[in-house]
Amino acid sequence: MTTSLCLEHSGDEAPKKKDYSSTCYIRQSNFEFCGYSLKINRTLGANLGVSAYVWEAGIALCRYFEKEKISFTGRKVIELGSGTGIVGILAALRGGNVTITDKPTILKQINSNVSTNIPTVCRHRLKVRPLTWGEDHTDFPADYDFILGSDIVYRSDTYPALIETLRHLANQRTTIYLASEFRKENGCLSFHELLLPEYFNCKVVDKSMDNDIYVYKMTKIDTSPADGLHM
Ligand SMILES: C[S@@+](CC[C@H](N)C(=O)[O-])C[C@H]1O[C@@H](n2cnc3c(N)ncnc32)[C@H](O)[C@@H]1O
Repeated sequence: MTTSLCLEHSGDEAPKKKDYSSTCYIRQSNFEFCGYSLKINRTLGANLGVSAYVWEAGIALCRYFEKEKISFTGRKVIELGSGTGIVGILAALRGGNVTITDKPTILKQINSNVSTNIPTVCRHRLKVRPLTWGEDHTDFPADYDFILGSDIVYRSDTYPALIETLRHLANQRTTIYLASEFRKENGCLSFHELLLPEYFNCKVVDKSMDNDIYVYKMTKIDTSPADGLHM
C-alpha cells in the first residue's frame, strides 16, 4: 500500500501537498482538551472504515473528562475500540497507565497518533494492543481502574462479544465510561438500558441532546454469594 504524501488540516481548505497516485492519505484534525492540543491523524483510503473518523461520542467523552476534571494519574486504564486513539491518548496525558486497543488493522493509525501526541517521557505509560471483543479479551487482566469506550455500541451483532469483554476486564472497583450516540436502527438504547444493567450498575452522567450522545458511568454488579450463604 502506498502511503500518504498528503497532510490535510481539518476543515475544507485545500491540501498543501497531495500525491494522487497514493491509495491512502492522512488527514489531520486538531482538538483542544484539558489544556492539551491534540493532532489526530486519520488514514483515509486504507479501508479502516468507521475507525478513520473521530466520532462525536469520542469528543463528548473527552469533553466530559475536561468538564469533570477527571484525573487518571497513577490509574490503570484500558480503552476499547479506540479508532484514532484520541480518548486513550487524553487519558495518558492526564496521567494514566493506558492500554489502547482495537482490531489489529487499526493499530498503525493509533500508533501514529501516539507518536505525534505523547511526549517521549510519558511513552512508557502507554501501550497499543490488539483486542477483538469476545476473541482475545482473556489475554488482558481484570485489574483495570477504568475502562473507556466511545461509539463502540453501534452494531448489534457485536453486543454479546462486547459484554463478554467488559465482564472479563472489569472488577468491582473498575469504573467504566461509555459514550454512545443513540441511533435508532442499531439497538443502542436497548443495549444500554436492558442488556448492560444485567451485569453493571449504569448511570447517565452527561448527555448532549443536540446529537443524542449519552455518557454512561458503570460499575460491575457484585454477583458473588453473600457471606451468609457460605455458612
Ligand atoms: C465508530 S468507531 C469509534 C472509534 C472511536 N472510539 C471514536 O469514538 O472515534 C468503532 C470502533 O470500534 C472498533 N470495533 C468494532 N468492532 C470491534 C470488535 N469486535 N473488537 C474490537 N474493536 C471493534 C472499530 O474498529 C472502531 O475503531
